[in-house]
Amino acid sequence: MNDEPTFIDVLSMDNLPIGATKKINTEIGDILLANVKGKLYAVDDMCTHEDSSLSLGCLKDELISCTLHGSRFNVRTGKPMEEPATEALNRYPVRVENNRIQVCLTPF
Ligand code: FES
Repeated sequence: MNDEPTFIDVLSMDNLPIGATKKINTEIGDILLANVKGKLYAVDDMCTHEDSSLSLGCLKDELISCTLHGSRFNVRTGKPMEEPATEALNRYPVRVENNRIQVCLTPF
């Protein structure tokens, strides 16, 4: 049995500059990629409060804001900073190989 996590190729690094986010459609749903000062993070794109895409929100340092009711989530930890959202986002391993961003679809 192979326990190696499987990474899928999703995007060129050139398309995710520092401070940017990008919604990626995958077989398990939409994932939000974020580039925070050169460090990459991948979390669920859907807010845990109601159905709203976090890709519509604004990234400020590690915090992405939900445009529907204003909760902010930390893209490094997945945790909401304030209500109404109370549940954390799933986080996914992300890496860069040959300038391509790759994401593992198995959450941490
Ligand atoms: S849908 Fe995101 S805070 Fe309500």
